[in-house]
Amino acid sequence: MEQRVANSLKILTDADKEACETVRISENEPASNKKRLFIESYGCQMNFSDSEIVASVMRDAGYATTSDVEDADLIFLNTCAIRDNAEQKVRNRLMHLNFIKKRKPGTLIGVLGCMAERLKAQLLEEEKMVDIVSGPDAYRDLPRLVMEAGSGQKGVNVFLSREETYADIAPIRLNSNGVTAMVSIMRGCDNMCSFCVVPFTRGRERSRNPFSIVKEAADLFRDGYREVTLLGQNVDSYKWENSVNFAQLLEMVAQVHPDLRVRFSTSHPKDITDEVLYTIKKYDNICKYIHLPAQSGNSRILDLMNRTYDREWYLGRIDSIRRILGDECGISHDMITGFCTETEEEHQDSISLLEYVQFDFGYMFSYSERPGTLAAKKFADDIPADVKQRRLAEMIDVQQRISLERNKRLIGTVQKVLIEGTSKRSAEDFSGRIDQGKKVIFPRENFKKGDYVHVLITECTAATLRGKIVAEVEAVL
Ligand code: SAH
Ligand code: SF4
Ligand code: F3S
Repeated sequence: MEQRVANSLKILTDADKEACETVRISENEPASNKKRLFIESYGCQMNFSDSEIVASVMRDAGYATTSDVEDADLIFLNTCAIRDNAEQKVRNRLMHLNFIKKRKPGTLIGVLGCMAERLKAQLLEEEKMVDIVSGPDAYRDLPRLVMEAGSGQKGVNVFLSREETYADIAPIRLNSNGVTAMVSIMRGCDNMCSFCVVPFTRGRERSRNPFSIVKEAADLFRDGYREVTLLGQNVDSYKWENSVNFAQLLEMVAQVHPDLRVRFSTSHPKDITDEVLYTIKKYDNICKYIHLPAQSGNSRILDLMNRTYDREWYLGRIDSIRRILGDECGISHDMITGFCTETEEEHQDSISLLEYVQFDFGYMFSYSERPGTLAAKKFADDIPADVKQRRLAEMIDVQQRISLERNKRLIGTVQKVLIEGTSKRSAEDFSGRIDQGKKVIFPRENFKKGDYVHVLITECTAATLRGKIVAEVEAVL
């Protein structure tokens, strides 16, 4: 579910991805005499969404957010532990923040999120200038931890909860375009993929009350938002008191308003049901796009990864998506190269899976051993780094070619696009996304952010479409 920062739809290498995973808060609340909080988020969308909860908790404790780190009384890094380089980045950042702290000794620094949960109090020993360590389930306790730290006592809370969903906390939308928003529907993960640190950093899976989810979506729509992305590590196992499953939740959110687009991430191949696929088909405003991480195209490796499905099962789910939603449904993947004992032939199975499925895009990583995981305990990390990288580069090349081919097929078609804002490259252009999640750039004409328009696709690269507006889409109500 890789944060994949929601709107970065190109093929990402590890390095690219790490680069776009860091987003700073750019919202400046009128601060008056409030204390100032600077939050920087790393990792997946869930972490970015959590930072919005943290900002809300801290606002109630008298802190306004600032986008200027030099100006902050309190600095939070909301961290990721998924791969070693994600943690390395945070350590480098902490080194830099240390200089700020030396210049402004009263500044407090907190490490939040998955790396905090993984390293716990050890972080305080390793990183001397860290004052607060808070795991992902302890954010309600932050005001107390900050107060303690202010009086010279380091504050640590890494308690993992079986109930916490922050359902009652209204997030403060950070770095928002005012059009698209993330809505967390569950927390934690009960799967035990052998390579993955998430079950250890986020704890047991729990689902959020569906009515609080629908209310949040309705409030967003009322405030002008036109797209919500429902977030969970494995959305298909969403369950509320044996009465609402993910398909039903999707339906409830889709009914908030026909002009509110609904996206979701991440689906799990073992759990995605035909009921979910039929619900997507039934509602025009549920986007025809599924992120379905594969991790490998080889059944022996999938077994070692403890993914609980094999290649045939995965391909069966892809066939169901194509059968029920047609070829227009966008599909993306996550893949890992160089997992323990992976042979060249097994790597080729992953490549052939890409060729068979013809994914629209994908997020690809080389395996990074994480301490404490099943794989770290049971298997040697025996594929040399250069082999992992070579396999990764080979895979990225194949996906680039396929992405370009898939995008070219859209040239000449007219797509419904939600305008998300001005293009990063040119103020004359807007940027938005088509139903299948692909980014499209087009001249702005007389439209505005949040409008739906019909765009004729005229050109593309592997990562982006270009086009021109041919008609406005009438609002439903
Ligand atoms: N819940 C999602 C994935 C969350 S982590 C799912 O089940 O698919 C996001 C992605 O990071 C994973 O899909 C995987 O491709 C990658 N990843 C996780 N652990 C990794 C590791 N140890 N090394 C390399 N990539 C990893
Ligand atoms: Fe990690 Fe697997 Fe859970 Fe995804 S489903 S978060 S890869 S353990
Ligand atoms: Fe997300 Fe990274 Fe944690 S991917 S769940 S922030 S380990």
